[in-house]
Amino acid sequence: MPAIHRLLVPVDFSESSRAAVQYAAYFVEKLGAAMDVLHVWHIPNVIDPALLVNVPGSATLPLVEHARGRSEEDMREFMSSLGPLVQGAHPRVEQGEPVEVILEVARQQTYDMIVMGTHGRRGLTHFFLGSVAERVVRRAPCPVLTIRVPDVKKD
Ligand SMILES: Nc1ncnc2c1ncn2[C@@H]1O[C@H](COP(=O)(O)OP(=O)(O)OP(=O)(O)O)[C@@H](O)[C@H]1O
Ligand SMILES: [Mg+2]
Repeated sequence: MPAIHRLLVPVDFSESSRAAVQYAAYFVEKLGAAMDVLHVWHIPNVIDPALLVNVPGSATLPLVEHARGRSEEDMREFMSSLGPLVQGAHPRVEQGEPVEVILEVARQQTYDMIVMGTHGRRGLTHFFLGSVAERVVRRAPCPVLTIRVPDVKKD
């Protein structure tokens, strides 16, 4: 089996992606691997990114800047909620279509394994895999470890 030096963990801040980080942390500890935690945010095409957003108590900003700030803040909170488990991990926030960006990052940066959830925030549990997970598994340039968190309501 090829050595595992670098792990890519795409996260949407769901319970599944939290579990993926926990699994990846095991490889970091046991194998001395490096972990990059990636969140990809996306503004649907029908929405003009120049649209101004006025959140009470904050500056008025173009939607794209507001979304970037929110995503970075969400990532900071997610990482800090994981505590020492992600000490040394590199958070990364990118804009774009999630599957395309995850695959592009995986190709460019020569990761040895992707670790991700089977479902995410939308959690459409009637599918075997969520749509992001399914398309990454189909096209990834490296092995993909998928982590399923049982749904207590439906299992
Ligand atoms: N925007 C994203 N950025 C990074 N990783 C993501 C993103 N969306 C999903 N993922 C990863 O994919 C895993 C599965 O999520 P996915 O979106 O495939 O399932 P879902 O939300 O239940 O389904 P769907 O989005 O198709 O309704 C997540 O646990 C996370 O690891
Ligand atoms: Mg999803």
